[in-house]
Amino acid sequence: MTDTLLKAQKKQDELTGIIATSEEIKDQRPLFHFATPGGWCNDPNGFSEFAGKIHLFYQYHPYSTQWGPMHWGHVTSGDFLKWQLEPVALAPDCEADFKGCFSGTAIEYEGKHLLAYTGVSENEEGEVQNQCLAFGDGKNYKKVSSQPVITARDIPFDYIHAHFRDPKIWKKDGKIYMICGLKQKDGKGCLVMFESADAKKWTYKGVIDSSRDGLSTMWECPDISVVNGKELLIFSPQEMKENYQLGFHDGNNSIYVSGKLDYEKCIFTRERRPENNYTAALVDYGIDFYAPESLQLSDGRLIMTAWMQAWESYITPENYIWSGMMTLPRELSLKNGRLYQKPVRELESWKSDARAGEIAGGKNECIFKKARRHFELDLKSQSASGQINLSLAGGTEKVMLKINLDDKSISFDRSESLVAGKIPYRKAKIRTEENAGGENSQTGGKFKFQIICDTCSLEVFINDGIMTFTNIFFMSDVLSDLVIENGTNQSLTYDFWKIQEKN
Ligand code: FRU
Repeated sequence: MTDTLLKAQKKQDELTGIIATSEEIKDQRPLFHFATPGGWCNDPNGFSEFAGKIHLFYQYHPYSTQWGPMHWGHVTSGDFLKWQLEPVALAPDCEADFKGCFSGTAIEYEGKHLLAYTGVSENEEGEVQNQCLAFGDGKNYKKVSSQPVITARDIPFDYIHAHFRDPKIWKKDGKIYMICGLKQKDGKGCLVMFESADAKKWTYKGVIDSSRDGLSTMWECPDISVVNGKELLIFSPQEMKENYQLGFHDGNNSIYVSGKLDYEKCIFTRERRPENNYTAALVDYGIDFYAPESLQLSDGRLIMTAWMQAWESYITPENYIWSGMMTLPRELSLKNGRLYQKPVRELESWKSDARAGEIAGGKNECIFKKARRHFELDLKSQSASGQINLSLAGGTEKVMLKINLDDKSISFDRSESLVAGKIPYRKAKIRTEENAGGENSQTGGKFKFQIICDTCSLEVFINDGIMTFTNIFFMSDVLSDLVIENGTNQSLTYDFWKIQEKN
């Protein structure tokens, strides 16, 4: 173990020691979402199944609640909800990655756990990013001796060497494939593919897809998987421009396209979306969702998780020693080219105290008073007009979720919470089966909202998961009131459960 890794491990031990003895910090933290043990975390990495466990690594800077030289933190789980801390897996401690071990993925390979990540280093031209590998047993990882394994020398065209990162690896027909994001000389993003027969020698295959319309720059964190007989390609482009109809927002977005990857020609052919003839759609319409990674589980499910935060809006309270959480892992499916997301089914066994109710048009109901914010609330509305408001309030602070059935929008407002940040509010058009594009909606009422709340996050799965809306917030008080206002003229039905770990 190098000194750099040992130092990071000591820091992690120190942080977990503090958390274990502080009720105040325990109360701040989510109950059933992964959160960093302390320090900073961003993207999920190496989300994989190995030796009977689910493994999640993450971009980790243990020394402060701000981004810094990247390590890979590591946790394991049996149910995607409760995470067991493991030793820090990677530290920036060799020539190929001394400026950081950036994002990547993991697979099982010949009985070992193979991690692929981006090594950030420096040469005479400045910062450079190259691809690196490490092998492990599920606890300890050793970088290969011939790092980096892929560099600019392997790519037959010139590009911006500071932007070549985030390898996604997968196995197919006895080979390993890798795609990475890369910034072309013209500033546009693209995805390059490599192939290897032995995880040692890698051959460049080509550009599978690129930002043809120039609606974005670098494409970060590519992910590819097969679901319902189609290939699902997800990536996170930078510097996009807002488009309310399509759902895109300014800055970093996470996008999916479905279609087919031709391994021979090395081209991803995208399907056109039935509702608007576009090929790309947003994965999640909330403020706090980025860099998703998927895991093809041995039981056949495709599960995805993402960093539950936005680069554009840092709202971690000043006195916190931790910053960064992941979304609830979600089961993915594709129907008519549209992505559906459902909370991982393991959540069912954490649900208890079921109750159902009906709120008449024009009435309010307090669902709970001064309780912990660990719940699922499913709302069904038959109305085609009016507004439904949900508020979580404690002391002088409040967060609101507003469903407007007149203009068919959902919005989240954290402007009255502990820290509003640069993006205190987001409004998005509600997507439906008939119209996942959100334009010219003919749909009346009959909206369904599955709202899952943990200490500091609200994730909404709309209309069976054709749209998700993920947002985080912080409140000084661990207890809140939950009130629903039914501002429509028809009754609203709900189901409610507490979420807690069962013994
Ligand atoms: C995405 C990202 C990746 C990079 C990592 C660095 O959030 O910018 O492209 O590998 O974060 O922490």
